[in-house]
Amino acid sequence: IKTKPTIYMIFGGTGDLAERKLIPALYNLFLEGYMPKEFAIIGLGRTDYTNESFIKNLLGGVNKFSRSGKADKDQWADFSSRISYLRTDVNNEGDYAKMEQVIDKYEAEWSEPPVIIHYLAVAPNFFPIIASNLAKMKSAGDAERTRVVIEKPFGRDLETAKELNALLRNIFDEKQIYRIDHYLGKETVQNMMAFRFANALFEPIWNRNFIEHVQISVTEDIGVEDRGGYYDGSGALRDMLQNHILQVLCLVAMEPPVNFDAEEVRNRKVDVLRAMRKFGPEEIRFNTVRGQYGEGWVKGEKVEGYRQEQGVNKESNTETFAAIKFFIDNWRWQNVPFYVRTGKRMHQKSSIISIQFKDVPHLIFPNNSSESWQQNRLIISIQPEMSIRLQVQAKRPGLDMTLNPVDMVFNYDGTYETDTPEAYETLLLDAMKGDQTLFMRGDQVETAWDLIMPVLESWEVKKSINFPNYSADSWGPEAAEALIAKDGFHWFTLPIKKSDKK
Ligand code: BG6
Repeated sequence: IKTKPTIYMIFGGTGDLAERKLIPALYNLFLEGYMPKEFAIIGLGRTDYTNESFIKNLLGGVNKFSRSGKADKDQWADFSSRISYLRTDVNNEGDYAKMEQVIDKYEAEWSEPPVIIHYLAVAPNFFPIIASNLAKMKSAGDAERTRVVIEKPFGRDLETAKELNALLRNIFDEKQIYRIDHYLGKETVQNMMAFRFANALFEPIWNRNFIEHVQISVTEDIGVEDRGGYYDGSGALRDMLQNHILQVLCLVAMEPPVNFDAEEVRNRKVDVLRAMRKFGPEEIRFNTVRGQYGEGWVKGEKVEGYRQEQGVNKESNTETFAAIKFFIDNWRWQNVPFYVRTGKRMHQKSSIISIQFKDVPHLIFPNNSSESWQQNRLIISIQPEMSIRLQVQAKRPGLDMTLNPVDMVFNYDGTYETDTPEAYETLLLDAMKGDQTLFMRGDQVETAWDLIMPVLESWEVKKSINFPNYSADSWGPEAAEALIAKDGFHWFTLPIKKSDKK
């Protein structure tokens, strides 16, 4: 799909997200020829900037954060000539009239009426006021041209997500609303669909008859950094699990869509969420684990515990780690456990999906100890390594029949010369093209909240008495090992490569 003339209105234009992600992504799209000939980026914020000082700041961000490295002088001059800054107060209706004037100016100059993308890169408490003010703009109702991109968190529970959806749907059509989950823009995550639905090999074994269990593990080595204030009111369930992890889980578990149309794909994903087993007190007790990091040593340096981080309550009960065993009650997945875990300040930054197949029915090779035996496994590494590995048993060279597991590896690095785009590049381009496949639909978000609400509520009511319960640079609380070990499995990790080391 060709992109039409586009205006990106970035609310929170002076913020961290714009500087680190949005502008570098748009700049890379520009370098690679994906931006339309006619485009404009309007930064909106309360700070008193001139166009020049605003652009200068953004250049700093591009130089620091863009995957293409330091900006090229001529290219940047061309790109930044389309950027301007408009000082605005989101509460002030009059300021929306100023925005309209800017839009009208471009509309008068350009070859065709532009697509207008209002990008809400602001704290969620501003969403309602911005949305209701946008509603008064004459372009709001133009479903073909006006879009609104909403950053996470989308609500802080089911009720607030419903309220926000109701508010947005009052103003916009669902096809104008782009709810971001940046994991869906990651190359390896998108490849899940290609891998499953463009190969005939896997579909016949992609079910309870052949798959023993699935793991999704998203571990981070960083702590809460300077986001303590936000994070303490959120926690790992809300910050990572309700959105990123459940979205990835849906891609692993969904039925084949009829085609690659946004509605078809999202229908199949929401089917998975609807089929997931609900949590009662028993499931919460036995199938969930929470954790909070204490102090520890990272690469020879002492780091603080969560409760000592800036912006965090000294007696905080917020979880920085969560592990859950899920079941999906449908024909494909009946009784196949899906173990997921996520945490901060863990030993390794790594996002992997591991699919373990059932064992051979009968082993004909004698003298093979269980240590050298590994059931077949498919490992999709999302980051930092981008790879797909199939672990199979093979004969070790030698005179006797000794087996050991080996990896058949598809590694992005060795296979493709081209650099992989950042998730935001994919998503910002899709928003321009009007393709919602990689964005969350309102019902998806609500169904995901609905699923985790009992866990969230129970954790909020019952304080954890043993926090902190894992130390920085560890693999999380012991109970998380026990959660999976009691079923006879262990969490799969990839060895840390030298290049990935902190
Ligand atoms: C964000 C969370 O959505 O995802 C952060 O708010 C987290 O807490 C981040 O660090 C992880 O994203 P990535 O792309 O680094 O895996």
